[in-house]
Amino acid sequence: MLVLGIESSCDETGVALVDAGGPGVPRLLGHALHSQVRMHEAYGGVVPELASRDHIRRVLPLTHEVLQQAGRTLQDIETVAYTRGPGLAGALLVGAGVACALGAALGKPVLGVHHLEGHLLSPFLSADPPEFPFVALLVSGGHTQLMRVEGVGDYELLGETIDDAAGEAFDKSAKLMGLGYPGGPALSRLAQQGDPKAFALPRPLLHSGDLDFSFAGLKTAVLTQARKLGDGLGARKADLAASTEAAIVEVLLKKSLAALKASGLKRLVVAGGVGANRLLREQLDQACAKRGVRVHYPELELCTDNGAMIAMAAAMRLGADVEKASRSYAFDVKPRWPLHELSARR
Ligand code: KG4
Ligand code: ZN
Repeated sequence: MLVLGIESSCDETGVALVDAGGPGVPRLLGHALHSQVRMHEAYGGVVPELASRDHIRRVLPLTHEVLQQAGRTLQDIETVAYTRGPGLAGALLVGAGVACALGAALGKPVLGVHHLEGHLLSPFLSADPPEFPFVALLVSGGHTQLMRVEGVGDYELLGETIDDAAGEAFDKSAKLMGLGYPGGPALSRLAQQGDPKAFALPRPLLHSGDLDFSFAGLKTAVLTQARKLGDGLGARKADLAASTEAAIVEVLLKKSLAALKASGLKRLVVAGGVGANRLLREQLDQACAKRGVRVHYPELELCTDNGAMIAMAAAMRLGADVEKASRSYAFDVKPRWPLHELSARR
């Protein structure tokens, strides 16, 4: 089964072709991405209208690039998958509109996919795919959630952030330090030269006894430190970055371990942009190895938004008979869409 995946929920246009038919692991035949980061940089964050317009410009050239990489033609595509939500309404509409138009023109069925399910299932495209059931730590720019995953479309929310997401905590702290947008990777790079114990930053909800997160207070604490340092911030920036990263990573680590303990599961899947963080990976690997827990990550380039995860999630939903692709070509998007609602639809 050849599935074309189109991702356009935020500031990346991603297109990919996945071959999910036959025995063995699904294969990524082609994958192309255009990041709008440089376009939005000047504004310090994503400008939704600019994002939508840019998706329109990029999506078809990227589709042709992917087909060329794969040595296939449009007619070879068997299902067209797109991100239906959550995300920016206008940006989602571009991907949904193009996917449905392609489907209608080619006479092929289409399927709208949940963006977070894409992240969650992206490790199945890696060389070391997980097996169900597992605990999933979903850490992206907009979401921080721990889920119990029994199978495709069977997701139980164990805990989530009550305010900012982990990626947001990275990005907002980075912005305060003048590290640009989105600053997560830049903050993490700078942190390598700093002392993680230099500043005592809060670990919100670390001992709350549940699996929820809160990162808004951390951002305020970073702001307070930055103000206190004033002109001295430049000289201490690496220390502040390292202390911020250490605080975020410690909370993510401890809560993931608590979720594993509570669920009795011995498998953890980490997905979403923050899953690319080097310190988080090191600490999770170490702690999980001690406890006999296997940790799975997507390939590094598939941690952040991409079309491959959308094609993959669609292929897995169709393969597990959880959903059927549609030939109606009428579409809507769901800018707000909790992941566990997918389970309710089963
Ligand atoms: O999953 P993603 O691409 O987009 C959403 O669905 O939100 O995640 C983007 C987030 C941003 O907040 C970005 O700063 C963060 O992931 N991120 C990182 C790293 N790479 C990406 N944060 C910390 N360390 C990294 N290496
Ligand atoms: Zn994402």
